[in-house]
Amino acid sequence: MAGARWNPERIAYGGDWSPEQWPEADWPAQLTALRDAGITTVTLGVFAWARLQPHPDVWDFAWFDRALDLLHREGFDVVLATPTASPPVWFSRAHPSSRVVDRDGVRLELGSRQNWCPSSPDYRRHASEVTRRLAERYADHPAVVLWHVNNELGCHNAECFCEVSAEAFRTWLRGRHETIDELNRAWGTAFWSQRYGSFDEIGAPARSTTFLNPAQVLDWRRFCSHELRRVLQLERDTLRSAGAKAPVTTNFMMGMGHAPGALDYHQWAQDVDVVSNDHYEVGWGDDEARLHEQVAWAGDLSRGVAEGRPWFLMEHAPSGVNWQRVNRSRRPGELRLATLGHVARGADAACFFQLVQSVAGAEKFHSAVIPHAGTQSRTYREASALGRELATLSEVVGSTVEASAALLFDWESAWAMQDPTMPSNDLQPMDTIRAAHRALGRLGTTADVVHPDRDLAGYRLLVVPSLYLCDDALAARLEGYARAGAEVVVTFFSGIADRDDRVRTGGYPGAFRGLLGVRSDAFTPLLPGIVVRAGGSDVGELAARTWTEEVEVRDAVVVARYDDGPWPGAAVLTRRAVGRGGAWYLASQLDVAGWRAVLARVGAELDARTPVPELSPRDGLLTDEVVEAIARGDLELVRRTGSGRAWTFALNHGTDPVRVRLPGEDLLTGRCAQVVELGAGGAAVVRAEVAGAV
Ligand code: GAL
Repeated sequence: MAGARWNPERIAYGGDWSPEQWPEADWPAQLTALRDAGITTVTLGVFAWARLQPHPDVWDFAWFDRALDLLHREGFDVVLATPTASPPVWFSRAHPSSRVVDRDGVRLELGSRQNWCPSSPDYRRHASEVTRRLAERYADHPAVVLWHVNNELGCHNAECFCEVSAEAFRTWLRGRHETIDELNRAWGTAFWSQRYGSFDEIGAPARSTTFLNPAQVLDWRRFCSHELRRVLQLERDTLRSAGAKAPVTTNFMMGMGHAPGALDYHQWAQDVDVVSNDHYEVGWGDDEARLHEQVAWAGDLSRGVAEGRPWFLMEHAPSGVNWQRVNRSRRPGELRLATLGHVARGADAACFFQLVQSVAGAEKFHSAVIPHAGTQSRTYREASALGRELATLSEVVGSTVEASAALLFDWESAWAMQDPTMPSNDLQPMDTIRAAHRALGRLGTTADVVHPDRDLAGYRLLVVPSLYLCDDALAARLEGYARAGAEVVVTFFSGIADRDDRVRTGGYPGAFRGLLGVRSDAFTPLLPGIVVRAGGSDVGELAARTWTEEVEVRDAVVVARYDDGPWPGAAVLTRRAVGRGGAWYLASQLDVAGWRAVLARVGAELDARTPVPELSPRDGLLTDEVVEAIARGDLELVRRTGSGRAWTFALNHGTDPVRVRLPGEDLLTGRCAQVVELGAGGAAVVRAEVAGAV
């Protein structure tokens, strides 16, 4: 990341406001109500292109000037968005080749949004022009604190199969592979007679007869992420060269639902001054992953992508959304806990889509701070109460989150695992990492979700969850961390393939055989619903699903074995002592309870040597009551530290009250005490001075 720094003095509390949807006479009352709700920050312009440039040669900034000036007079900070997410209709009609072509070769019709091909030169030229004009006009506007490029790049147009895209793909492939022989090697085109004589013969991997070449598809996904990233770079560079000084961001879509997403944000993060994320909980929260565990995942991933720095929550929903099958409102108190959950995990901003609920269009039933009912509504009242609370948290801004564990995550590996030719389509790329993340949470351990290439030296516990594809160098690096004292937990289906998706031979798990001291020669995935019993004296009973292997133990200690299933008596969990640490292999998919038992055993190994804050009793914090509430998934405890102080966020998502020994001042209430008592849905942010904290 380079460029301007984002140094807010308070938690930015705000969201998208679309003055173009309202008569100008309504603006002042809307802004007064928003200010009364504690809103500090307004995102402006996201879908305003058609109003700013109603015809090819007509520009109309006067209304935008008035909106911006009014926001400034009323004391709001403005996140100024380039309006490039949706081009005006006249543009798309004049440049039909700019519209997206789907994998069936159908050019998509207008009438929705984001219908532009990422490679389209027409789109790029026009997007760049409106961006330039905006920056030239508002670079020095005193209200602008942040530039917001485009909106959720790739949300609906991550792939385009048009001829322009195919040509751009070929150019990208030339850059990556240099020669056609090298491409043929990397893609394994000896298989199925797929050999290419020249780059010109290669097409986009659109619909075909049956399975596509997985390496071609993986390169395509890399290319698609790269192509949209170029749009981010283009707009950012245009902003800068037109004089924009405020930091630049764009809203990523991380941790939403169970899919990995189409864009490699580890790379994208290099192009923004501050990482922003949009997050929407999915489902009702009564199923497997509870709502706050979804928030925790998104927060830990956002922070990992931001390399530990504070990040910006650009969008979440004040209450219900409008795009799930059934869209419920948030329960009383849910918004407060979700927001504090994001802040606990490093967000220094908490913004919404949207501030005023639309009365027309596809999102008219999406919630807003000011809903259809107006300010006489529970959502407005709760958002206002939250605004008052966030104002008490200014001293937390800029601090970092304490995490002793890291979960290794790589979008490329996840994409490769999504290929339908894997040993089991029931193993989805996010299954293992999400289960491990939830289990760590239920031990009270905060984990950073980080790219394998990151420096991992500070972490005591490293989890490598079904990291199918990785570099040759990773195993040696992990071995080094283990030697220095880390415990490394590698699961099944890790280290299998190299960066070209070519399988490592000699036995599974490929790259990690030596590190782990185990080997297997075949996978035996399980049919849905089949549960294999397993266990060991240190971890109790485990329920293994989805995956088994007949593990041959060469240089490791067996910690747990299968009791039945295809390999009764074979190892399912092993540990090899490595220097001052250890390397574990977990050969099956476990539920959260099983994962928790395994990670508690790993944590005990660490405790015996060097206490890991979240895994060991600290300052009397982890009483039985607290440990049980954390284990149920009710209590969330996360610490941010900075400037010699620590702030513990204690959030009770359960229905039972819980007492937590946290001496200090609760910023939310201003009360000092030794113990905080959290009722159902209760929250506290307790400040303590910490010796040694930085
Ligand atoms: C986001 C998008 C917003 C709005 C919101 C609804 O994906 O950026 O414009 O559509 O979802 O939840």
